[in-house]
Amino acid sequence: MSKQPSGERAGIAGFFSASQLRVDRWRTLHRVAKALATGNGKDVEKLRKDAADELAALAPLEDLCGYPGPRLMTLVHERLQTADWTGFARLAQRISVSLLSNSYRDDPEAWKGEEEGEAHAPEVLPPSIGRGQARKPYFEVLVVTPGERSTWASTREVMRRLRRETDEFVYEPVVVGSLEDAVLATIVNYNLQAVVLFDGFAYASQYSLPDLRELLAPHLTQGDAARDADLGTLAARAVRTIRPELDVYLATDRDVGTLAGADEAAPIRRVFYGLEEMLEIHLSILDGVGDRYATPYFDNLKHYAQRPIGTFHALPVARGKSIFKSNWIRDMGEFYGANLFLAESSATTGGLDSLLEPTGNIKVAQDKAARALGGDRSFFVTNGTSTSNKIVHQALVKPGDIVLIDRDCHKSHHYGLVLAGGQPYYIDAFPLTQYSMYGSLAIKPIKRALLQLKAEGKLDRARMLVLTNCTFDGHVANVERTMLECLAIKPDLIFLWDEAWFGFARFTPFLRRRTAMGATAKLRSLFKSPEYKKRCQESKGALPDPDKARIRVYETDSVHKSMSSLRQGSIIVVADQDFHTVEAAFKEAFFTHTSTSPNLQIIASLDVARRQMELEGYELVQRALQLAIELRREINDHPLISKYFRAATPAEMIPAEYRKSEFSDYGMPGWNVAKTIGALNTDEFFLDPTRITLLCGNAGYDGTQFKALLSSDHDIQINKTSRNSVLVQININNTRSDMAHLVKALADMSRAIEKRLADGGEPEQATFKARVKSLVTDVPDLPDCSRFHDVFRENPKSATAEGNMRAAYYLAYDASAREYVKLNGKEIDERLKNGPELVSAKFVIPYPPGFPIMVPGQVISPEIVTFMRKLDVKEIHGYNAAMGLELLKPDALAALKGKVANR
Ligand SMILES: Cc1ncc(COP(=O)(O)O)c(C=O)c1O
Repeated sequence: MSKQPSGERAGIAGFFSASQLRVDRWRTLHRVAKALATGNGKDVEKLRKDAADELAALAPLEDLCGYPGPRLMTLVHERLQTADWTGFARLAQRISVSLLSNSYRDDPEAWKGEEEGEAHAPEVLPPSIGRGQARKPYFEVLVVTPGERSTWASTREVMRRLRRETDEFVYEPVVVGSLEDAVLATIVNYNLQAVVLFDGFAYASQYSLPDLRELLAPHLTQGDAARDADLGTLAARAVRTIRPELDVYLATDRDVGTLAGADEAAPIRRVFYGLEEMLEIHLSILDGVGDRYATPYFDNLKHYAQRPIGTFHALPVARGKSIFKSNWIRDMGEFYGANLFLAESSATTGGLDSLLEPTGNIKVAQDKAARALGGDRSFFVTNGTSTSNKIVHQALVKPGDIVLIDRDCHKSHHYGLVLAGGQPYYIDAFPLTQYSMYGSLAIKPIKRALLQLKAEGKLDRARMLVLTNCTFDGHVANVERTMLECLAIKPDLIFLWDEAWFGFARFTPFLRRRTAMGATAKLRSLFKSPEYKKRCQESKGALPDPDKARIRVYETDSVHKSMSSLRQGSIIVVADQDFHTVEAAFKEAFFTHTSTSPNLQIIASLDVARRQMELEGYELVQRALQLAIELRREINDHPLISKYFRAATPAEMIPAEYRKSEFSDYGMPGWNVAKTIGALNTDEFFLDPTRITLLCGNAGYDGTQFKALLSSDHDIQINKTSRNSVLVQININNTRSDMAHLVKALADMSRAIEKRLADGGEPEQATFKARVKSLVTDVPDLPDCSRFHDVFRENPKSATAEGNMRAAYYLAYDASAREYVKLNGKEIDERLKNGPELVSAKFVIPYPPGFPIMVPGQVISPEIVTFMRKLDVKEIHGYNAAMGLELLKPDALAALKGKVANR
């Protein structure tokens, strides 16, 4: 029997799969136990040894988890020792199945040795675990104690005895004796919601397993080992760095008054004196979890729905009477259920609060969301991040301000700038020509743009930098470095990080550092450190002066894209130390874009999505990351599938110059967790594992074709495509069965291609080869974003690229200023050669790739025309093939010369 259950990997893959590997080991143990129970004496000694080995390998992890817990583990060992193979197999099965399905969180049976009757149950079960109405959510509490191992059982017992019928939740204590074990438990035990530290515990773990040591390494440095005196606060900090949502309590007999007021105690929720207040600790634990569990808006909406309210305002569907009494639309009511309508209202009274002027439970819900996402404040938005982005643009940018922006970003930013009158300074992302897509915006061209503005005395107009993080295809920026390097040039630059796809990243320590709010927290603490001040003085301007730099960061998240909110649920998270200077403008912008009838269910779902992420986001995201890495491996290591399909690796998606660490794939030999985290800290770009560019060109399919095939023949839906790829996204909703579904489909398709090529002989093979070549090798160059026409530039001789896009946009409203030329006609080639210049009247956005290849006022280059002519996609927004390209007429442009005000 293998010592390494299937899927076991070292490095970052091991980090994500530690919990899954534990379940795998239990499954293996169950198989061995079954063989022992049915084996009729065959191989008994070998099987017994295998079982003992599995149990020994499980021991360190079991010590960190509440279920099955010491009592059932003792029973398992006893049955192995007494050769009670039937009992051993039954217990191994029960535990293995309960772990696999997580049923121990709800099912009292999971906690029993099977012959135990009800009489024993109250002592061994977390009481009140049950189903339906009786169900109390279950969690585990880590207790770190200086006591000998022999005292741990009584520590558990003391805490269990504090349980009361009226408790809203039920928890099981997990006792460990060292800081290292506490950190390990924080990593591997998804059920933890709180940590109680009894001062005086040891530093080092009793286990020295290399796999577990590897998990620890990035979180505990050697220097920490010396700091025995501060183990309590050190542990608190380590726990909260890994999982900031956990509540940490410290019980100590030190001078609690002084300690509680110290900065080091900031990560601790409450400090207790000695053991004198066990009940207080218990109540605090429940209170802390209750605070995360409470969803003020959703709770109130549920309450509202149950009240017999008569409505005399708009919205006939409210209370559902127009539906349930209808002869013709009753099926809508039956389909959605009564609660949807009972929970509808256009009123903002009755405790429903107002999204436009929140003072009650929406305000509290927004504050909780800000806490969860690491910001100072947050704003719920019910029309998607498209609207969140426009709100931020309008709030922060006034006409004439220069906004540095990735041309490849979502269209809401371009439209937001038209509305706000900001002048875009477009910067090109690095191209991935081979996949017909752009990567992300590197730091160098951003700095170049800022320095050009500085050289021309226009830096004061540079208001904001807009970046997409991560991009649709998974490019994750080095947020901290980007902000540091930009602030060194322009200390009050505002950052808008469009994290539409990346909200989930907050909930894994792996990616959090690369979110806007994660990096903001790091910058804030950096700017406070005396050591940084010194470095800054020595850096001669390469680092921002902490006394001058302003940290002004905005993040927009499509909560519906990566968390459990209804479609269009979005959030703006703000960490702006100068927010007071823009608060009024922000409010106006919010009023401008927000419906006066926001959807109550979307608001409630934002509240609930926050609850979920604060309580189980860590577990869900770790599992999603694990699944994504596993799926990548299944595809790329499969001998047949990988002939035709590939999951593009970080090395393929990110040019080497942006991967100085040489990180090239997840779970590579020699890349342990610490080294991978080193790459995350230093490389300019990192690839989000959950966004898998599945290359299909080698199978002879373009992205659109392949997407259609997956949907029609395999019931698999994907969204984004490129010329020779589709994007497979893994999120917190996906399961191993989903992975199996896709892998099976790819295997079926690969077999079908093999057969077709074999049956069709040479002619078929030659056609296939030519098709693959056209998709994989003959790819069109991606066009740069050229420039704005001189009329829209303050100074045509300037080296800076900003332009008055809004003037161009509105010029096109005048029919007499517009003209059309056919894309394939001779006129275009003639004008490209001899003028007059072709100037776009519109945004032209082909899908795929989905970025504007023309914006209003932009001069159309030969490269853009070539690219458009080669495009073989059906959907091109802003372009009507029958009419041709919509341009601004040369005489209309001439008439405007010198008249386009810049501000
Ligand atoms: C980077 C980016 N930002 C913003 C949006 C818009 O988000 P929403 O669909 O929530 O309006 C999208 C949508 O795909 C996007 O890709």
